[in-house]
Amino acid sequence: MANKEDNLKAIISHAKEYGFVFQSSEIYDGLAAVYDYGQMGSELKKNIKDYWWKAMVNMNENIVGIDSSIFMHPTTWKASGHVDAFSDPLIDNKDSNKRYRADVLVEEFVEKIRLKTEKDVAKGIKKFGDDFDEVQFRATNPNVLRNQTKIDDINARFKTAMEADDLAGIKTLIEDLGIACPISGSKNWTDVKQFNLMFSTEIGAVAETANTIYLRPETAQGIFVNYLNVQKSGRMKIPFGIAQIGKAFRNEIVARQFIFRMREFEQMEMQFFVRPGEEMKWYEHWKAQRVKWHQSLGIDAKYYRFHDHIKLAHYANAACDIEFDFPMGFKELEGIHSRTDFDLKQHEEYSGKKLQYFDPELNESYVPYVVETSVGLDRTFLAILSSSLQEEKLENGSERTVLKLPAFLAPVKVAVMPLTRKDGLPDKAREILNALKFDYNCNYDEKDSPGKRYRRQDAIGTPYCIMVDHQTLEDNTVTIRDRDTMEQERVAIDKIEAILKDKFDVRKALS
Ligand code: GAP
Repeated sequence: MANKEDNLKAIISHAKEYGFVFQSSEIYDGLAAVYDYGQMGSELKKNIKDYWWKAMVNMNENIVGIDSSIFMHPTTWKASGHVDAFSDPLIDNKDSNKRYRADVLVEEFVEKIRLKTEKDVAKGIKKFGDDFDEVQFRATNPNVLRNQTKIDDINARFKTAMEADDLAGIKTLIEDLGIACPISGSKNWTDVKQFNLMFSTEIGAVAETANTIYLRPETAQGIFVNYLNVQKSGRMKIPFGIAQIGKAFRNEIVARQFIFRMREFEQMEMQFFVRPGEEMKWYEHWKAQRVKWHQSLGIDAKYYRFHDHIKLAHYANAACDIEFDFPMGFKELEGIHSRTDFDLKQHEEYSGKKLQYFDPELNESYVPYVVETSVGLDRTFLAILSSSLQEEKLENGSERTVLKLPAFLAPVKVAVMPLTRKDGLPDKAREILNALKFDYNCNYDEKDSPGKRYRRQDAIGTPYCIMVDHQTLEDNTVTIRDRDTMEQERVAIDKIEAILKDKFDVRKALS
């Protein structure tokens, strides 16, 4: 695959061809930044959700899960700050009439400078191999130092402007950096404006009495407003967490990059309620835990990095992102935020209800502090899909496209195939399939040559294929083919269940 843009194109077309992701309402030419998950995609997405839930809720005694509504009382969003402050700075290019997020334009400019350094480092490694001292190079090379100073200056100016809500200052920064519109190539920009990202609609049938309500832009507020219900009904003791998975909606300005930035998406969030003053300890704890979770998916560590926020959101006293090396470069996959007692205090004030916890050990009541982990389900899906999709050259000179998904996440776990459609082989294959389908999502495939069928299963990431052949009728054995090694092992039919149970065991990943 030639470059990053081609990589993304290849992933989008693979996702469509094999039923993972379709453009929403495609027959009407689609709806921007809205996507549908197909027959393979919805299975993969469900498996990711189940794995997150297992790791977050089932594996932690002090974390419980809920499922709150998308619609919430409109005052929720006043209290949370979203009505007044959930906006992005946008800027239009007057020649292309394209709209951009001003902060993204600056971030992309900074990323280009950073990539220059990475290129220099890569050159050094190529030229000097093991003799190359990367740490020394990064600390002393004049080009690297010059680039870092540039990055620091830009970040500092950007931070000052954003914190002061100085929209003119952000425009000046874009002009000073000479950032041009990627479409028109011109630097003819409008002023920067703030744009609220929440979708609104009306609840109630009669226009005069209808109330404006919002589609939730994050699932977190459904957790905050239920904090006391869960704490009391579950007799939860601090520290404890409430998790949920659900849809969120944002009227994103920049609607590109496939399922990375959508207007309707899903989040997997957990709010961890702690004693005031202990939030930094838990913030570090959850940073480490979340990285472990991502790495338990078997994706190489080089795909991940931390990015500390320059501009903290209105509710946070510390925040970072876990970034992933997507086909478009390193971008946010998950946010970890120390949200202080901001949200609960705001809801106390706006609702007039006390949201306090009586701590029997301290013999005092307080509003708990919150550390939040918030990962996008669709971005996790894209991270897994993009890092799993591989083109392989085989020993016989042919090529195959294979999706090396973690076995426990694969949409189809096992494909059962008769070698031919004759001699009773299909009946035997169906017998095996009927026994396996209680435990696994299986495929039955008898069309085309075995080679073609294996390629089809490789392309959707099926980890194991069971082939029923003439020997099966003689000695009740089948072959099991491994997707990654392509090796086939002959096993007795009555051993299949035990073999597969071991192969799909998530214990190793979870522990
Ligand atoms: N409750 C905190 C919160 O919502 P966020 O950083 O705005 O924080 C959390 O969002 C995660 O949700 C992000 O890291 C990302 O994975 C996902 N996300 C946010 N906006 C998204 C969008 N438009 N499309 C897809 N995923 C999105």
